[in-house]
Amino acid sequence: MTKRMRFLKILCILSVVPGIYASTASADERYRPVQNERVLGECGECHMAFQPQMLPKRSWERLMGGLGDHFGEDASIDPKTQKKIHEFLTANAADSSWFGGRFMRGLDSNSAPLRITETPHWIREHNEEVPESAWNRPNVSSKANCPACHRRAHLGDYDDD
Ligand code: HEC
Ligand code: HEC
Repeated sequence: MTKRMRFLKILCILSVVPGIYASTASADERYRPVQNERVLGECGECHMAFQPQMLPKRSWERLMGGLGDHFGEDASIDPKTQKKIHEFLTANAADSSWFGGRFMRGLDSNSAPLRITETPHWIREHNEEVPESAWNRPNVSSKANCPACHRRAHLGDYDDD
């Protein structure tokens, strides 16, 4: 259990509104596994379907507005599917609940990163704990290749290693 998890546990116990903090304490709840078939199909084709809780609404809006040139790839989809995916991503974004997700921490109110790997929270978590050599392992290939290091990433569980 990480320090943060312990801290959240204490918050749970102290909380006068049990349930609100409790819902942030479990890894599975923080980054819920993506079950939306459209998203799994369209956004899980070239890489894992990233959990929407890892970027703010404004990032998902920017990203969904530029699928024709998506990190050098054409990821465009038909307008109806695009609208549904857009709705899913923004409804579950890091800033979609009033208490705010961890991925909002340190994020400038006018910055809308297109990459999870460029958010202050992601950078902090990985700078502290991942040795430089880990990024050069042949099976990693990219920082965005979450499942190379987090075997249960698709379940929203990043606390395993
Ligand atoms: C045609 C292939 C393709 C499809 C389809 C695709 N992507 Fe990507 N995506 C990429 C590539 C390539 C990258 C850059 C990966 C890298 O840097 O290793 C990327 C990166 C990303 C990143 C940034 C990862 C990070 O933190 O560095 C996000 C977020 C993302 N995609 C979301 C989506 C969403 C949402 C969809 C569905 C609407 C989608 N992608 C569909 C190819 C695709
Ligand atoms: C080279 C291996 C590696 C890659 C690739 C990687 N991570 Fe990590 N990640 C780690 C390590 C090591 C830790 C710290 C160990 C821990 O806290 O369990 C960590 C920690 C985390 C945490 C904090 C865990 C917690 O306790 O809350 C999150 C969230 C996370 N990673 C998400 C991601 C996402 C999303 C991606 C892909 C966009 C990714 N990671 C890619 C190695 C990696």
